[in-house]
Amino acid sequence: MVLEEILLPAEEIGRKVEELAREINQDYAGRRVTVVGVLKGAYVFVADLLRHLDPLLEVRLDFISVSSYGNAQKSSGEVRLLKDLEESVEGKNVLLVEDIVDTGLTLDYLCRLLWARRPADLRVCVLLDKRSRRVVKVPLDYVGFVIPDRFVVGYGLDCAGMYRHLPYVAAVRVEE
Ligand code: PRP
Repeated sequence: MVLEEILLPAEEIGRKVEELAREINQDYAGRRVTVVGVLKGAYVFVADLLRHLDPLLEVRLDFISVSSYGNAQKSSGEVRLLKDLEESVEGKNVLLVEDIVDTGLTLDYLCRLLWARRPADLRVCVLLDKRSRRVVKVPLDYVGFVIPDRFVVGYGLDCAGMYRHLPYVAAVRVEE
């Protein structure tokens, strides 16, 4: 793997996360929220975002784990549920948090799955939006950055299971 360029330095991501948290704090003021983080990619974003939420907000945290079949670089469109939520979301205000939306197939699958469980409300927060690759329309309520169609790693995102720990988002080239 060759690191081509740091697209989003850690400081820029940090500022954006604070900005998103401010919006969420305003929108959810006086309400309860169940944050659903999508593993594995969203683990860093969820951890940072939650620490900027209003201390008085009643925040619950749950995780769901999904994976798309196929090779590591491109989503195949088939989504597999690896780990379900631990708590019911019926009647809850759910905020689904994802690291990246690419084709939209994963979020589409998750939104259908969660809406079927009758939450009071379901909103979606993504850090990275690779908009040019979308094949299915998904409603996004909070978007960090719209990024170009490059292969990106870091801040939770992996390449063959590695590089999730990088504090920045980098565009990489994967050599065969
Ligand atoms: C990545 C990412 C999203 C999905 C987006 O997950 O975290 O869940 O792909 O792609 P899509 O919009 O084309 O569906 P991945 O399957 O790589 O699993 P991971 O989160 O465990 O890295």
